Amino acid sequence: MKQEIAFIQRADLKVKPDTASLGFGKYFSDYMFVMDYHTDIGWNDPRIIPYAPLTLDPASMVFHYGQAIFEGLKAYKTADGTIQLFRPEKNMKRLNESCDRLCIPLIDEDFLLHAIKQLIVTEKDWIPDGEGTSLYIRPFIFSTEPYLGVRASKQYQLLVILSPVGAYYGNQLSPVRINVEEHYVRAVIGGVGHVKTAGNYAASLKAQEKAEANGFAQILWLDAKENKYVEEVGSMNIFFKINGEVITPRLNGSILPGVTRDSVIELLKYWNIPVREVKISIEEVFAAYERGELEEAFGSGTAAVISPVGELNWNDQTITINDQNIGQLSQRLYNEMTGIQLGKKEDPFNWTV
Ligand code: COI
Repeated sequence: MKQEIAFIQRADLKVKPDTASLGFGKYFSDYMFVMDYHTDIGWNDPRIIPYAPLTLDPASMVFHYGQAIFEGLKAYKTADGTIQLFRPEKNMKRLNESCDRLCIPLIDEDFLLHAIKQLIVTEKDWIPDGEGTSLYIRPFIFSTEPYLGVRASKQYQLLVILSPVGAYYGNQLSPVRINVEEHYVRAVIGGVGHVKTAGNYAASLKAQEKAEANGFAQILWLDAKENKYVEEVGSMNIFFKINGEVITPRLNGSILPGVTRDSVIELLKYWNIPVREVKISIEEVFAAYERGELEEAFGSGTAAVISPVGELNWNDQTITINDQNIGQLSQRLYNEMTGIQLGKKEDPFNWTV
């Protein structure tokens, strides 16, 4: 796709928020990227325009049949002012995998990345530089054709919005309490759990509210078929350190292939720390705890990077991991990942762009 990206300037710029008050996903920058799709002409009219509400037909298919997908990645400003993205090509590829699964027309990955870079350069003053902050990039696509028959839409819109963010959870790297969910499931094999559809997150809310009502921060999801094997934690992938070895659930079709998950595995291999992708049951995790071998547990995701698990509750049994402290490996991974992202540490993998 060799299209020019149009630009419409806004009259006034917004007042930027205080770095200390950022939180996650509360503020949005001055501009957004938009592109339309129609079956007759394909993806067209790429443009960077003032951030503003959308006008949509109430019959737009997304409201009825839910063709909506998204991605999440971050831009960082290094000490010398360079703007860096972290493995963005992986997000472009996964966006297309989500497109494919929901019968949304594929996008040109190189063009979208080019458009995102252009948007970020336009909005470079929105990249915060405080400790633990970044500019969160949210590309998303939804169906817009006004039609109530059930089939794939013939019209779509793709947007990219930007949000300056701080820590996903109030406190950077504080161990969280997790409830193992035994009734609700996040995803099934053959379903859409391996792609980033809006519906996956809608489906997770009931269990999340239940967990919160019982004093937990997040849910540990088990497989839908046997209610036995560990899948994900909250909206993140999960890792356990058991007797010196790091274990994470193998991608099985219902687990999201996280970019941070992949990066953690690569880093561990680089450090010669044993790491395995396996099918692991919650029973095995609790048995490892009983043997005194469960050393650490942590979630990985773009938003939080690394999120240590301090407590796991399953079957009326609560176990405390690493005395509710941040594990050594969790801390090392967090430091290394954020160090590479911020250009403070060497990037032997060429992950930054
Ligand atoms: C992430 O960990 O990056 C996520 O996917 C969470 C996001 C939906 C806020």
